[in-house]
Amino acid sequence: MGTNERTLILIKPDGIQRGLVGETIARLEKKGLKIVGMKMLHVDKALAKDHYSHLVSKPFYPDLEKFITSYPVVATVVEGKEAVEVVRLIVGPTNATKAEGGTIRGDFSNSTSRNIIHASDSKETAEKEIKRFFKSSELFDYKLVLNEFLYAGDE
Ligand code: PPS
Repeated sequence: MGTNERTLILIKPDGIQRGLVGETIARLEKKGLKIVGMKMLHVDKALAKDHYSHLVSKPFYPDLEKFITSYPVVATVVEGKEAVEVVRLIVGPTNATKAEGGTIRGDFSNSTSRNIIHASDSKETAEKEIKRFFKSSELFDYKLVLNEFLYAGDE
């Protein structure tokens, strides 16, 4: 059973300004996801254009770039069974107005643009996004002894 899938999370400037870093990370940890990388950084315009390259031609891109470069973000890589999908479920849909209670966006946002957190949307995207934000020396391979209690018996 593969428990080593990795995904990238960014707690965006609104998440930090609203004091939701701890709450957000706590939800991921309590699910059993293993933190393998974490740092605070300021996203510059070049990194924003790279990260949101599929959105640069959208009318909302200027606001998105201004927002994501305005204040620091916290980038985190978590690892676990089906981590990409599990994190997307915990986070909720991009349009937080449609996000169910119990999800991070459903509980803390009512917006598409100020929606607290970014999470990779597929395994392929996660691999690219992790490389974009982290050097391999900034990611940690270690045994989470809890895994035996989290997953043992799963197929
Ligand atoms: S798309 O085109 O909506 O499918 O793109 P997606 O990759 O799902 O996410 C869009 C990201 O852009 C941010 N953003 C907006 N999206 C839609 N409409 C408006 N007005 C808008 N403004 C900003 C949105 O928060 C998504 O950011 P991330 O960081 O990926 O969650």
